[in-house]
Amino acid sequence: MTGQKSILITGCSSGIGYDAAHGLKERGWRVFATCRKPQDCARLEDEGLESFPLDYESQDSMVAAVAETLNRTGGTLDAVFNNGAYGIPALVEDLPTDALRANFETNFFAQHELTRQLLPTFRKQGHGRILMNSSVLGFAALPWRGSYNSTKFAMEGWADTLRLELDGTGIDVILIEPGPITSRIRENSIPHYEKWIDPETSARREDYKNKLEKRLYSDSGKPDPFELPASAVTSVVYKSLTASRPKARYRITTPTRLFAVLKRLLPTRWLDTLLLKV
Ligand SMILES: NC(=O)c1ccc[n+]([C@@H]2O[C@H](COP(=O)([O-])OP(=O)(O)OC[C@H]3O[C@@H](n4cnc5c(N)ncnc54)[C@H](OP(=O)(O)O)[C@@H]3O)[C@@H](O)[C@H]2O)c1
Repeated sequence: MTGQKSILITGCSSGIGYDAAHGLKERGWRVFATCRKPQDCARLEDEGLESFPLDYESQDSMVAAVAETLNRTGGTLDAVFNNGAYGIPALVEDLPTDALRANFETNFFAQHELTRQLLPTFRKQGHGRILMNSSVLGFAALPWRGSYNSTKFAMEGWADTLRLELDGTGIDVILIEPGPITSRIRENSIPHYEKWIDPETSARREDYKNKLEKRLYSDSGKPDPFELPASAVTSVVYKSLTASRPKARYRITTPTRLFAVLKRLLPTRWLDTLLLKV
């Protein structure tokens, strides 16, 4: 179809990526809804989406996904949404360095790599939108989330730099900053926690048992205060894709907006006092 806009999205098996894939397709976009696991691609194809694998942990998979995308479009692409990611809940002092490296591989280095693979196409056509799924935790850190916080803080610095460097090219770099959104992010962090963290060796082993694990393994289904459905992110993603001059940052949920203001106003120690209460 002529004039139809196209987007490649990562991490579409659940949560924000899943909703964005369906929501953007409904809004007329051609969506390449990639997933880490082939069985999720098959499920999405059954639902009428175009889907093929893209695993941030595999360079070959990213190369193949970019080739597949450009093959299907005839060499063009309007946007990419770097969305797939996960967390490793733990205290910073208990994170093996290799755990941090692994988390950075998916949440940061692979997103750099995928973006680099697409930039020649964006440059050639003179336009493109690079959407990065950051977080309120990309600028306000919470305890027990050091690995995830660090990857998102890195993403923010990376995106701010790339935006400056691409000024005047027609290519926009956009940070999406959600707060609490209904998804599988907590459940999906469990295998990473179990792989890397040994609470028995921690100086705060009681806190792991009585606090972190209670929350991690709880299936109460009770949403966080201020939690919004993934569709709230999709609406903002659509806005950022269609705005004639997109903003550098889109803040979603009350906590994100609140902490963005507080971070500018409060001394760090005062902000710490608030963050310790969250
Ligand atoms: N939910 C929130 O409150 C919230 C708030 C702020 C920001 N975010 C951000 O939103 C994005 C989506 O998260 P979500 O909340 O929708 O959580 P989710 O339901 O857990 O979805 C995460 C997605 O990332 C995928 N993923 C994980 N490792 C991957 C890899 N190696 N290669 C490709 N994809 C991979 C997962 O695939 P599998 O199913 O195969 O593991 C899944 O599709 C993340 O960047 C997250 O940081 C979420």
